[in-house]
Amino acid sequence: MQNNVLILDFGSQYTQLIARRVRELNVYCEIHPFNKIPKNLNYFKALILSGSPYSVREPNSPRVNLNVLLDKFPTLAVCYGAQLIAQEMGGLVSASNIREYGRANLFLKEKNSVLFDGISNNTQVWMSHSDTIKKLPDNSSLLASSDDVENVAYRFLQNVYCLQFHPEVYHTVEGKKILENFLTKISSLKQTWTPDSFIDSTITELREKIGSDKVILGLSGGVDSSVAAILLHNAIGKNLHCIFVNNGLLRKNEFNEVLDQYKEMDLNISGVDYSEEFYNELKGVSDPEKKRKIIGRVFIEAFEKESNKIKNVNWLGQGTIYPDVIESISATGGPSATIKSHHNVGGLPDFMKLEVVEPLKLLFKDEVRRVGKSLNIDKKILGRHPFPGPGLAIRILGEVNKENVQMLQEVDHIFIQGLKEADLYDKIWQAGAMLLPVKSVGVMGDERTYEKCVALRAVESTDGMTADWVDLPHKFLQDISNKIINRVKGVNRVVYDISSKPPATIEWE
Ligand code: XMP
Repeated sequence: MQNNVLILDFGSQYTQLIARRVRELNVYCEIHPFNKIPKNLNYFKALILSGSPYSVREPNSPRVNLNVLLDKFPTLAVCYGAQLIAQEMGGLVSASNIREYGRANLFLKEKNSVLFDGISNNTQVWMSHSDTIKKLPDNSSLLASSDDVENVAYRFLQNVYCLQFHPEVYHTVEGKKILENFLTKISSLKQTWTPDSFIDSTITELREKIGSDKVILGLSGGVDSSVAAILLHNAIGKNLHCIFVNNGLLRKNEFNEVLDQYKEMDLNISGVDYSEEFYNELKGVSDPEKKRKIIGRVFIEAFEKESNKIKNVNWLGQGTIYPDVIESISATGGPSATIKSHHNVGGLPDFMKLEVVEPLKLLFKDEVRRVGKSLNIDKKILGRHPFPGPGLAIRILGEVNKENVQMLQEVDHIFIQGLKEADLYDKIWQAGAMLLPVKSVGVMGDERTYEKCVALRAVESTDGMTADWVDLPHKFLQDISNKIINRVKGVNRVVYDISSKPPATIEWE
C-alpha cells in the first residue's frame, strides 16, 4: 500500500518547507506544480495544497480541478489553497482590511476536531495573507478563529481541512502536530519513510535499473556526491568508477586527504591532477563569470579524458538533490539561476551520450546527511561545509595563479582549523576566506609593509539561498587575525565580512 503525499505547489515560498515537515514525520511526499499534476494519482493517498503569492481574486491566478482532487484525497489546504476551496465551492474571499501577517492565537471552535487533536486552545500560529475568507462554503464547519480573523480553519465535506495559517513554519508552535494529525489520523498514512527504508529501496531500484552496466561519477569531496557514490557502490560495487579531479583550486591538502578517505571506503576511484591545465587556462583572467565558465569547461574536458579510459560505460552518476529538481520543474524557475553560472562537478556534457542516474534526487540536504550517517560515511565528509565547484578561484578577486592560491590556502587553513579547535565549525553553515585585490600599508617590527588584505566570511543558512553573517567571538577573530598576519607571508590586514545574503552573496564572485 502506498503511503505517499502529493503536494501541489501554487508558488509559495513555503512549499519546500511543507515537504520537509512531512518528511520529518517519516512520511514520503512529492511536490508537483499545480499545472503539471502527475498522471498516476493512485500513487498518492493524501493531498496538500500550498500557499501562493497570487490572490484567488485575480482572474489568472492558479487553478486546479478541485472536484476531481477533493473527491479522491483527504486534503489539507494551506492559505491560498484554503481560499481557493472557499471561493470555488461557493464561499466568499475578499481583500482583507486588517493586517494579517505574523503571529496570532488560535481559538478552537469545535470540540473533538481530529485535525486539532491534542492542540492547545490559544496556540500560536503564523499568518501571512492579504485576502480573507468572508464566508465559508456550504457543507463546511468552522474549526478555529483568531482575534482578528473569523474563518482561520474550517472543514469542508468530510475530509478536506483548510487553514488560513501556515502549519509548516516554526512560528506555528504546534504546526508539526497538526500536520501529523492530518497525515496519520485523517489520511491513515504510516510513518515508515526513514533513511534505512530509503537506502533499501534505492539499492534495489539501482540494481534493477543498472544491472551489470558500468557507471562513472565525478566526486568532489562534498556530501552529495559522496553519499551518491556510496549508495551506488553498495548497489553495483566495482562497476562504479569514480573520478576525482584536482583542479588546483581546492583547500590546503584537501585532494590527498579526501582521496585517502574515499579509498578507505573502498571506492573504485581515480584521483587525477589537472592543476596545471586549470592554472594555464585561468592566466590573466579576472572577470568572475569568465573564470566560472573556464573552470566548467576545463573540468568537462578533464572528466571526458579520464572517463574515456574506462571502457563500456553507459551511465553517469550525479549527486543532484531535491531542491535542484524542484527548482528546475517549478513554474517560475530557480531564483539563483541568473546571478552566477553555477558549476557543479559531474555535470553532463551532451556529447557523452550517457544516461543519468541520480540516487538522491528525491532528498533534501538534511536527509542526504541522515542517509549518509546510516551508510556509516565518515563524519568528516558528512559534516563538511559546502564548497563551491570553482573552488578558491571565486574567492580570489583578480587573477588566479598558483602563488595566490597557495597564499589563500594558508589563510583558509588557519581560519578553518581555528573554527574546528574552538568547536565552532559544526555550528555554522559555511566559512572561508577571500583574497582581495588590494594592498595596504602596515608596520611589522620597525618595517613598513605594503601587502595584501584578506576577508574572512562565516555564515548561517539552511539552504544557501539566504544567509546571515555569524557573530564570531571577538577574541577568536583577534587570535585568527594575529595568526594569519604572523604566519602568511604577503598578508598584513584581515577584515571580517558582515554582509547578509541578500543583498550580498556568500561567495564574493
Ligand atoms: P552564493 O555565492 O551564490 O552561494 O551566495 C550559495 C551557495 O552555493 C555555493 N556555490 C556553488 N556551489 N558550484 C557549486 O557547487 C558553484 O559554482 C557555486 N557557486 C556558489 C556557495 O559556496 C554557497 O554555499
